[in-house]
Amino acid sequence: LRVYVPHETTALSLGAEDVATLIRREAKRRGMDIDLVRNGSRGLFWLEPLIEVDTAEGRYGFGPVELDDVASLFDACFERGAVEHPLALGLTEDISYLKQQQRVTFARVGITDPLSLDDYRALDGFKGLTRAVSRSSQHLVDEVKVSGLRGRGGAAFPTGIKWQTVLDTPAEQKYIVCNADEGDSGTFADRMVMECDPYMLIEGMIISGLAVGATQGYIYLREEYPLAHKVLNEAIDRATAAGYLGANAADSGRTFELEVRLGAGAYICGEETSLLESLEGKRGMVRAKPPLPAIVGLFGQPTVVNNVLTFAAIPAILAEGGAHYADYGFERSKGTLPFQLAGNLRQGGLVELAFGRRLRELIHEFGGGTHSGRPVRAVQVGGPLGAYLSPEQFDVLLDYESFGHIGAVLGHGGVVVFDESVNMAQQARFSMEFCVEESCGKCTPCRIGSVRGVEVIDKIIAGDDRAANIELLEDLCDTMIQGSLCAMGGMTPFPVKSALQYFPEDFNDSKGA
Ligand code: NAI
Ligand code: SF4
Repeated sequence: LRVYVPHETTALSLGAEDVATLIRREAKRRGMDIDLVRNGSRGLFWLEPLIEVDTAEGRYGFGPVELDDVASLFDACFERGAVEHPLALGLTEDISYLKQQQRVTFARVGITDPLSLDDYRALDGFKGLTRAVSRSSQHLVDEVKVSGLRGRGGAAFPTGIKWQTVLDTPAEQKYIVCNADEGDSGTFADRMVMECDPYMLIEGMIISGLAVGATQGYIYLREEYPLAHKVLNEAIDRATAAGYLGANAADSGRTFELEVRLGAGAYICGEETSLLESLEGKRGMVRAKPPLPAIVGLFGQPTVVNNVLTFAAIPAILAEGGAHYADYGFERSKGTLPFQLAGNLRQGGLVELAFGRRLRELIHEFGGGTHSGRPVRAVQVGGPLGAYLSPEQFDVLLDYESFGHIGAVLGHGGVVVFDESVNMAQQARFSMEFCVEESCGKCTPCRIGSVRGVEVIDKIIAGDDRAANIELLEDLCDTMIQGSLCAMGGMTPFPVKSALQYFPEDFNDSKGA
């Protein structure tokens, strides 16, 4: 009997390790021969630990499994080859949350043993790289352009154009840098890729190196992801031993080396220039752009800086062709986006969809409404710098331009849901406070503006000359948007302004106090 127990941070935090240990022990006690596979997570977090068994029809799921359930699973199912149990979920692939998704980047996630090269290769792993090695750099960049892929870190800049800039900039040394400093509230897609399908990221980075002529790559990983750190290092070692990395990487005749570097817990180090400073061993301060990192990047050399999800999309683009990827999606937002459902939701987890669906579907059909059972009042999409949306806006299409039209951002795909108990004046205050805490301090509108922002919101909440202070807050927000050097100060006003615009009642009575 083959049993799968996820080895991924969310599942582990919900007890998956103890469940795995108990399954092993119980099998031994009953004299059963069990093949226990530690797969990644499917991203159906409310069902974790979600364990699976192989059946003739496919993989059958049970969850959420607690220690007390293990003996009954053996009695009712494992020993009898049956699948009747109160925790039975049916065939995992048929769970509607999963079945309704379009998993392109996450196609293997949760299915394979993350560190098994055989598993990876069996499900199209390294197919894109194999195709890439026989092609010219320009051909690879062109394929990415055809795919329409835009940066998945949040800014949505066309990846092919960024790569073209690096390819066209002559230099002795070029670099590939992966931004794995995933810092947005409610996001975990990067972490899942690294913990559950690390060779996909490695493959994407090797292809990027071949495309622009870079021989060295770095993954800048946030320190708070210890499991991802361990898995990535092990995956890099195995990929090197198998010849995919190093001199003559993947038999390309070219070199590509890869290393992981740990961040030190600053949100601003997710901003690309600050990240490069930190990688160079300096304090994470934002650099003025231009020059763009694509021209003057790491150690002054042309550098591709892309998010984990951007690199992770590359293998499938090369394997199936850019046009195939571009077939997913909607207008200028091509391909898929892995949305991350978090906050007050019944069914939090990872939902990969082609662009063009509606926010309402994510919240109600996938998320199942609020965990508290109260009505949804607000949703913040795109991390702590994203606007708050009210229920009247939930029919907005999930694509970059539609969000832009309503003054919001899709960002990295984080969706955080609040029920009616939320106080939006306090949320606005929190945005400014977050900026006070995380500002790198280089420019005045952000460094001082955020401190003043907290003070002004406090006065509004206290009912102190409210009309004048609301006007002052709006003025301050405009100054921060126009005068800040980077997105930290430049976007902090978005959640503040949207809270003021869509939830004015929270500022106008004493609810905020
Ligand atoms: P940006 O718009 O300045 O740049 C986007 C990317 O395109 C950068 O890599 C830039 O160097 C590159 N670029 C621009 N013009 C180029 C050209 N002509 N040739 C080559 N490359 C070019 O945006 P920025 O400041 O990098 O990112 C802001 C975004 O980051 C926000 O929209 C926010 O959603 C997101 N964000 C994501 C977080 C996360 O945890 N994933 C955390 C915080 C913010
Ligand atoms: Fe630093 Fe804030 Fe200015 Fe960005 S906006 S450079 S984080 S002070």
